[in-house]
Amino acid sequence: MNIHFIKHWLKNPAAVGAIAPSSPYLARAMAQPADQFDTIIELGAGTGVITDALIERNPSARLIAFELDPALAGKLAARHPGIEVVAGRFHECAQILDSLPERALIVSALPFRSLPKEVIRPTTVILARFLMQNVARSLVQFTYQPRTPFDVPTSLTWRWRRVIWRNTPPAGVWELRQG
Ligand SMILES: C[S@@+](CC[C@H](N)C(=O)[O-])C[C@H]1O[C@@H](n2cnc3c(N)ncnc32)[C@H](O)[C@@H]1O
Repeated sequence: MNIHFIKHWLKNPAAVGAIAPSSPYLARAMAQPADQFDTIIELGAGTGVITDALIERNPSARLIAFELDPALAGKLAARHPGIEVVAGRFHECAQILDSLPERALIVSALPFRSLPKEVIRPTTVILARFLMQNVARSLVQFTYQPRTPFDVPTSLTWRWRRVIWRNTPPAGVWELRQG
């Protein structure tokens, strides 16, 4: 297992919210819609397994990756100089969303079931507002539990897409958008 993942998990298990990085199968499933979007926002990039899949799926898209841990964020930026990496809590540095085009994809690996309430609330408010601004926006999220990842206003709908068994533990992939 990746040593950077282990170090980060030891420092902050609730922020990591996983016992292992996503498998390549889960990463590819999360990246599947990426070729339909020119602007992609990744949340909780970690060691970059989903980042790699996003770049492979759509190398010409603008990719903005948020990661809480500054060491992991620095490594990701060094490995992928062509993407924008933002280090810190997403909800505290999300201003960049205001300048993004109408059509955009959010790919989230944030562990909503283990993050503290004071992080979940502002994060989900920002995400819901972003999606409600335009019908051409979509969010993809994985979760290890058999229920929707977080509560949303009634104008947004969660759709279950698939389960990835070849992941530890198996993960469900969900999509959130208007309608
Ligand atoms: C479940 S891990 C996913 C890592 C990687 N994307 C993967 O799939 O293996 C969650 C990641 O989200 C990051 N994270 C947690 N809270 C965050 C926040 N509020 N803003 C940005 N990143 C956050 C953690 O540091 C961790 O790297």
